[in-house]
Amino acid sequence: MKISVAIDGPAAAGKSTVAKRVASILGFIYIDTGAMYRAFTYYVLKKGVDPQNEAASCALIPEVFIELLPGGKVLCNDEDVTDVIRETRISSNVSYIASYKAIRLHLVDLQREMAEKGSVVMDGRDIGTYVLPNAEVKIFQIASVETRAVRRYEENIQKGIKCELKEIEEDLRRRDYIDSHREFAPLKAAADSVLIDTSFMSVEEVVNTILSIIKRKTGVGEVK
Ligand code: CDP
Repeated sequence: MKISVAIDGPAAAGKSTVAKRVASILGFIYIDTGAMYRAFTYYVLKKGVDPQNEAASCALIPEVFIELLPGGKVLCNDEDVTDVIRETRISSNVSYIASYKAIRLHLVDLQREMAEKGSVVMDGRDIGTYVLPNAEVKIFQIASVETRAVRRYEENIQKGIKCELKEIEEDLRRRDYIDSHREFAPLKAAADSVLIDTSFMSVEEVVNTILSIIKRKTGVGEVK
């Protein structure tokens, strides 16, 4: 039985951390769709193109080849961009790139192809509403913006990425606004999704909650 789990929600709500764990516990493939929009943004900046220029950014589609490797590495035209796509210059431009319909259609095709290959946990903004509308399990994961800013700040510091807490919070607010107000496939909870507010939950609690929802809806997995 092939199962798709969609995890959507605003920036830095902890989706990728729990999605990765749930996928590894169940032996599913983890697909980080945000990493694909980030890798595209990396390429746009590398080419010296202004990410706010839609036509010039979309013109690069035929020359961008993005791959997500099983161990979590992200490749852009064979270059390992796993770490560089987390930098502030990428975070602050990615929502412009992600608002362009042509780029979304291109990346969504790749995402659907990956989901055809087996059971997946896919995280993003539009997975339950647009990419995989028939996903067996849909989660909408939220947390207060203050909590999300602190989490992303600590994550960045651990990775050696220089940042300011206040700037991170501003970036999250700005990205959430652009992501939820764009015309095509905006960030919003699917009508049949389960809402989880993780503001006061540990990673383990969120993982266990999602595992029990998957078990209840599909019969797959063990619940502690
Ligand atoms: O990890 P974080 O929450 O900061 O963001 P991400 O998941 O890496 O996604 C980066 C950006 O890509 C988001 O702010 C969205 O603008 C865009 N994105 C999207 O539009 N649709 C997706 N399915 C995934 C990401």
